[in-house]
Amino acid sequence: MKNKTPEKIRALFNQIAPHYDQNNDIISFFTHRLIKQHVVKSIPQLPPEPKILDLCTGTGDIVKHLKRRFHGAQITGADFSTEMLKIARRKHHGVKFVHADCLKLPFADESFDLVTMSFGLRNTASYTRAIAEVKRVLKPNGHFVHLDFGKDAKYADEIFHKIVKFIAQVQEDESYIYLLESKNSFPAPEQLIELFAAHGLETIERKDYLQGIISAQYCKKACVSNR
Ligand SMILES: C[S@@+](CC[C@H](N)C(=O)[O-])C[C@H]1O[C@@H](n2cnc3c(N)ncnc32)[C@H](O)[C@@H]1O
Repeated sequence: MKNKTPEKIRALFNQIAPHYDQNNDIISFFTHRLIKQHVVKSIPQLPPEPKILDLCTGTGDIVKHLKRRFHGAQITGADFSTEMLKIARRKHHGVKFVHADCLKLPFADESFDLVTMSFGLRNTASYTRAIAEVKRVLKPNGHFVHLDFGKDAKYADEIFHKIVKFIAQVQEDESYIYLLESKNSFPAPEQLIELFAAHGLETIERKDYLQGIISAQYCKKACVSNR
């Protein structure tokens, strides 16, 4: 997408929202479901009744697993696409969904024990601003879990391209072509880890799935805030 502005990104996700869940199943051969479940299962133990924020929540896939894993948690899902949020609200009860831009979050400093972000950062207009906001809203010693495409997946690219182009053809919607562009220009996990560290988020664990096609980073905010 040329000139990736927030308005263009929001319009794109509003447009693809009705097909989003179905297309994820097709593109990933359903594996995204197991990966998301495993990523949440692997999050370290949190304090009792934790406050959790799922950024770029979309239709709420991560929220679903967070609810199962952290009983008594206060969970908020945030996204700037009204159409994605409509679906999330319909699917997941007992979760607060907030219309919010992750580059300028409407939350106080140090308010969450855990922030998650799955396949979201790549779509934002500024990775650094989004990461700075994650750090700002995390409590000292709070956790940040990030999931997205990795880079060690050259051999999978060809088939991935073919599936996405097939979806674009069948649904007569070119929006998904953007996915290919955003995937190719997204930093590799090693670079992301450096970026997180530069913002005071230390990666304590990295998990690669499907031989690196997908990668998760588990980070912790340093106890002493150096904002
Ligand atoms: C690919 S979807 C990921 C949804 C979900 N987290 C998942 O793993 O399936 C990306 C989501 O990020 C949202 N998004 C992109 N940029 C955003 C921003 N600046 N602020 C809030 N949401 C944003 C989009 O509206 C979309 O719902």
